[in-house]
Amino acid sequence: MKGILLAGGNGTRLYPLTRVTNKHLMSIYDKPMIFYPLSTLMLAGIREIALISSPKDLPSYKQLLGSGEHLGLSITYIEQEKPEGIAQAFTLAEDFINRDSVCLTLGDNIFYGDGFSKLLKDCTELEEGGIVFGYQVNDPERYGVVSFDQAGNVIDIEEKPQVPKSNYAIPGVYFYDNKIVDIAKGLTPSARGELEITDVNLYYLQRGQLKVKLFGRGSAWLDTGTPDSLLDASNFVGTLEKRQGNKIACLEEIAYKMGYISIDTLTKNISAMPNGTYKKYLAQILKNETASVAAVTS
Ligand code: DAU
Repeated sequence: MKGILLAGGNGTRLYPLTRVTNKHLMSIYDKPMIFYPLSTLMLAGIREIALISSPKDLPSYKQLLGSGEHLGLSITYIEQEKPEGIAQAFTLAEDFINRDSVCLTLGDNIFYGDGFSKLLKDCTELEEGGIVFGYQVNDPERYGVVSFDQAGNVIDIEEKPQVPKSNYAIPGVYFYDNKIVDIAKGLTPSARGELEITDVNLYYLQRGQLKVKLFGRGSAWLDTGTPDSLLDASNFVGTLEKRQGNKIACLEEIAYKMGYISIDTLTKNISAMPNGTYKKYLAQILKNETASVAAVTS
């Protein structure tokens, strides 16, 4: 399965923060926002990734993440001339997707919780149809909303309904089979002029090919498109990191623990970093790791 990381858009709700800098490069506590959805793909076991952003902003992402080799990834960069809708990602990435299935993650969505990685990994086994998620929120009108009948069957999906039929929002991580490119090609822009991801989901739903899995109440889903949600996400990450001493979305740590890079590559990555808390954190991981390798081999 391939992965797409969507990091374009105008970030208008964050203006003037986004006047010069792309939204997904903003800080979420101690890392750029894009690290979090990239970590989502990495934890799902996806290593071939296309990052889509505007021609103006792509160079910054290339500078930040390069070819991805230092993380054991292969990162391809694709331009989105204008933000014409989330579903446009699939036509832009047609060559990249090729004959594969694909997972799309939105660059401003952060996920956290026990069992999350396993849940996503299971979805990468998808052969036919699509899989999306439902997450209970207080303000469903801000999102794609999925509604169910009494037996729990999905009956409808609507984009930002004025009167939501449920409190279940659809978060920005989606899994689709290879039909996605043709489906995206057949879409027409919505009233707000965008190729809607909700129309993709409706297409699969109407053919009985959409699974909706619920994220439990013990998991966290944060989107970070407004000043308040940006601050909330930073506070959330900061609180957990300070309490536990573990970092969330530390890409080098994930790459090593997932077996994408060797201990030598991890060491090289750390050596190339300037002194600071991020390097210190990774150096401690390396130290623990070297000690346990020594214990096993002695
Ligand atoms: O966050 C989940 C929600 O994301 C879903 O529940 C909705 O169904 C879905 O439409 C979307 O709603 P938003 O209004 O939050 O979408 P937004 O326009 O903010 O775009 C989401 C991300 O995708 C954001 O990081 C910018 C990026 N994007 C968006 C568009 C429309 C692009 O890179 N290019 C685009 O053309």
